Formats: sequence, C-alpha cells, structure tokens
Amino acid sequence: MTKPLVLALDGLSATGKGTLGRRLAGALDLAYLDTGLLYRAVGLSVLKAGEPLDDPIVGEKAAQNLDPASLDDPALRSDEVASATSQVSVHPQVRAALLKFQQDFAALPPEGKKGAVLDGRDIGTVIVPDAKVKLFVTASDEVRAHRRFLELQGVHENATEATVLAEMKARDMRDQTRAIAPAVPAEDAIVLDTSSLNADEVFKTALAIVREKLES
Ligand code: DC
Repeated sequence: MTKPLVLALDGLSATGKGTLGRRLAGALDLAYLDTGLLYRAVGLSVLKAGEPLDDPIVGEKAAQNLDPASLDDPALRSDEVASATSQVSVHPQVRAALLKFQQDFAALPPEGKKGAVLDGRDIGTVIVPDAKVKLFVTASDEVRAHRRFLELQGVHENATEATVLAEMKARDMRDQTRAIAPAVPAEDAIVLDTSSLNADEVFKTALAIVREKLES
C-alpha cells in the first residue's frame, strides 16, 4: 500500500488556513482535518464543567473523553472558547491524549482518500514530521485582527478591532511560546504570508507550491 500523502498546514489564528485547507483538500481529493476543533472541544468541555483551565488533569480527562461526533458544535467557534482552548492546549497531557487521533487520521485517511490535509499549529513539527508538504501560513497582526473583526460583525456586537487584536495577540503569544509543540514553522516548512492576498490568491499560490513540491 502506498503511504498516504500528507499536507501539514500550520499557522496562527485568522490566517485563512481553514478555508485554504478545505479548498486544497477539495482540489487534491484529500481528506481534511481541522485539528483546532479537537482542542476547542476540550476547551469547551472544561468551560462547560466550570473546571479550571490551568489544571492539566482536568484537560487530560476532557481530551480522553472527546467525542469526535461533537466537532460540528457551532459553540466551538466562539472567541471565548478559542481563548480557553489556547490555555488548555499548553498541557502536555492534553496534547498527548489528542496525538493518536490526528496521527491515525493522517495514516489512514477516511473514505479511502489517498491522503489528508491536517490544519493546526504543530502538524509539521510534531504530529506528522515527515509530511510530504509543509506550509506555515502567516499574516500581519493587523490584517488578521481586521479579518476576524469582519467575521464577527453581526455575531458579537461589542467587539471592536482593538479588543479583537488584543485577544488575538494574547492567544498567539501563548501558542507560540508554550514549552511543548509551540506554533512555529518546521525547519522544512514553506512560509506563506497572506497579508496582501485575497482568499483566491492564497489558494492559487498554495496550490502551486504544493504541486511543485509533489513533482520534485
Ligand atoms: O486553529 P484554531 O484557532 O481553531 O485553534 C484554537 C486553539 O487550539 C489555538 O489557539 C491553539 C490550539 N491548537 C493547538 O494547540 N494545536 C493545534 N494543532 C490546533 C490548535
């Protein structure tokens, strides 16, 4: 059996990597996994239980009890859950409990697909270090905060661009500086700065990079 083709798609929040990952998976006929949802499900579960976010054992239990069927809960998308998630994601126990699910998805993509796109923070560094293609998506803080602010219009009436920027910076700082699996590009990742690109341009650029890499 040939080894599945894995595309590791890492980056910070609001870089558009979710949209990009889905489009790449569609174009290349690969399965797609948003690994942020796994961590968000843990964050939401701890929040709902009213348990402390800084307790690794609480986070570990929530991760072990994760029900993959709950990953389409719209509540997972809120910024409150994102912030809580970033806090539970620093615990090595939480990350260890979610490792197998992600690696199994990459090794045996669902629906008989020949490979998978995994979207996250540490896919190229920890989860699938031998991924055939590694992309790390970035954009300036201001551009990312503006994109997120626009998404929140009509959903979160009190959000201002300044509060969105502040929350985003705090979350990214935590994700980038945590002791285990920080959100940094793998040495062999191609960094794609999307600050001045629209979604179509990001997709076309990324697809060209992937195709070139697959032919090399
Ligand atoms: O990609 P996202 O915004 O849905 O991720 C939410 C949080 O989950 C993010 O702030 C950090 C954490 N996360 C992680 O630590 N590792 C991943 N592979 C994906 C997400």
